[in-house]
Amino acid sequence: MMKWWQKAVFYQIYPRSFSDGNGDGIGDFQGMISKLDYLDDLGVDAIWLSPHYPSPLRDCGYDISDYCSVAPEYGTLDDFYEFLDGLHKRGMYLILDLVLNHTSDQHPWFIESRSSRDNPKRDWYIWHAGENGMPPNNWFSTFGGSAWEFDPQTKEYYYHFFFKEQPDLNWRNSQVREAIWDVARFWLDLGVDGFRLDAVGTIYEDSLLSDQHAGINLDDLYVLERNSKIPQEHTRVVELWEEIFKYQHDQPGMHELMRELREVINEYPDRVLVGETDDLSYYGNGSDELHMVFNFPLMRTRRLSADWVRTNQSERLERIPKGGWACNTLGNHDSARMMSEYGDGIHDECIVRVNLAILLTLKGTPFLFNGEEIGMTNAVLTNPDEFRDPLSLRTYEMEMRLFNCPGDEAASCASGNGRDKTRSPMQWKNAPNGGFCPQGIKPWLPVNQDYQQGVNVETQLANDSSLWHYYKNLLSIRRENPALVEGEYQPMMEDDQDILVFRRISTVQNCLVICNTCSENRIIKIPHFKHPPRIVYSSLGREGTIGGDLRLKPFEVLIMEEVNI
Ligand code: NOJ
Repeated sequence: MMKWWQKAVFYQIYPRSFSDGNGDGIGDFQGMISKLDYLDDLGVDAIWLSPHYPSPLRDCGYDISDYCSVAPEYGTLDDFYEFLDGLHKRGMYLILDLVLNHTSDQHPWFIESRSSRDNPKRDWYIWHAGENGMPPNNWFSTFGGSAWEFDPQTKEYYYHFFFKEQPDLNWRNSQVREAIWDVARFWLDLGVDGFRLDAVGTIYEDSLLSDQHAGINLDDLYVLERNSKIPQEHTRVVELWEEIFKYQHDQPGMHELMRELREVINEYPDRVLVGETDDLSYYGNGSDELHMVFNFPLMRTRRLSADWVRTNQSERLERIPKGGWACNTLGNHDSARMMSEYGDGIHDECIVRVNLAILLTLKGTPFLFNGEEIGMTNAVLTNPDEFRDPLSLRTYEMEMRLFNCPGDEAASCASGNGRDKTRSPMQWKNAPNGGFCPQGIKPWLPVNQDYQQGVNVETQLANDSSLWHYYKNLLSIRRENPALVEGEYQPMMEDDQDILVFRRISTVQNCLVICNTCSENRIIKIPHFKHPPRIVYSSLGREGTIGGDLRLKPFEVLIMEEVNI
């Protein structure tokens, strides 16, 4: 029996930017509630909600100051419940973002912990006296600077993998584990259907606190990355990154911890855990750790060529343990917008369309990111005062300091590097502020002005051939063809760099998928089938069956059913 989350297509909502119900320029639950029918109409099955908890917003909500509540600017627990209920009534599911590694420094646990060395919660975080007035080792925070912050009041250092306002919890303390499991139970009792586990690999650090010996600091690594042109140079940057942080992620103990969490989840029927990691070991034996981990390697390219996709699938699918389930995505709140990342500047929308077809027909549960269905692009912010992601400001500062960049160039680089570009408000109509919030109100992040060029929901709903309708159409094709959900993946024509051909084979149906990932006309020979495959979807409106020589147009997509008649 397939589970709901194996059949589902997930849609990530970034709550601050989705829909503003009370007109204050910030997305909220009433806004999301007003879009329930929209989500249903689009045809997604489940929502992953980025953090909706109270937070001082040092890291846009990934710094939580109360795990069992709702940020006041988003509404109340009642509003949350109304949203959840509205989803369930429409047959949709909801998973929440669970941030395990760290809390906000404003969380009462940390406030207590830092209040004195003998506070009962002292050991809930990672404190160290350091040596000779120096931190205990040379670890960095992935967001810049030392991973250790000196606390003048108790004269010790605490550890933070992310910003210093995000102190790491000490997961070796059993009270911490129990406290967070209770948080999970709190939401599961309310009826949520599972969790996306934030930065799951960073939970433990090397217990010996060994120094890293990468021999490079983060400034120099940034310079190296900026200057790298050829693939080998990029690979070197990734290797150095690994070397710098090797004692700070994926440490022993993780798998026992995931098994413990899985048992908590198993107290409730039919819930799901998806980890923000691409490490397949988090599947455990296939049924005792996470249900899914993201196939991030698929998206680490500027072009999803047939070659790239096939190699990715062959490296990954075989290695997922029996019982584990694949999970694919091409964008989220940390990455670039799909349209900007994969577009070539000439065929952007065609490319996005093929990419979506690939995402929805590969084996595994797809995750979409809000706004991609209308082709939202990276928002360009020119004024650093408008940045909300501290990583944008960090790049801005580094560009000026390390490259002597003039302010405007530094800002443009920072806008491209930071994460604000993907988090700009959803564009609902061709109206002031893209219809996200009322005219005259300043949205929390500037709205991308391309809403005036058709990148908005209302305009695309009115046009049957828009990207929005393409999404809706393909989502329904996926739902109606069980092989696309449950079928095994079998690649074909494996020598072709550009034409992706594969079958999905299940007990109830076989499908054949053909995607031309390039901008050229191509002729391919359809292999012999006993009964010629019947088209269930054609991007060019072809009908009937196919066989023999097939002339493919640039970026053409064909999904066929192999019929037994
Ligand atoms: C991963 C989240 O996706 C990202 O947005 C956040 O900054 C870090 N984890 C820290 O929570």
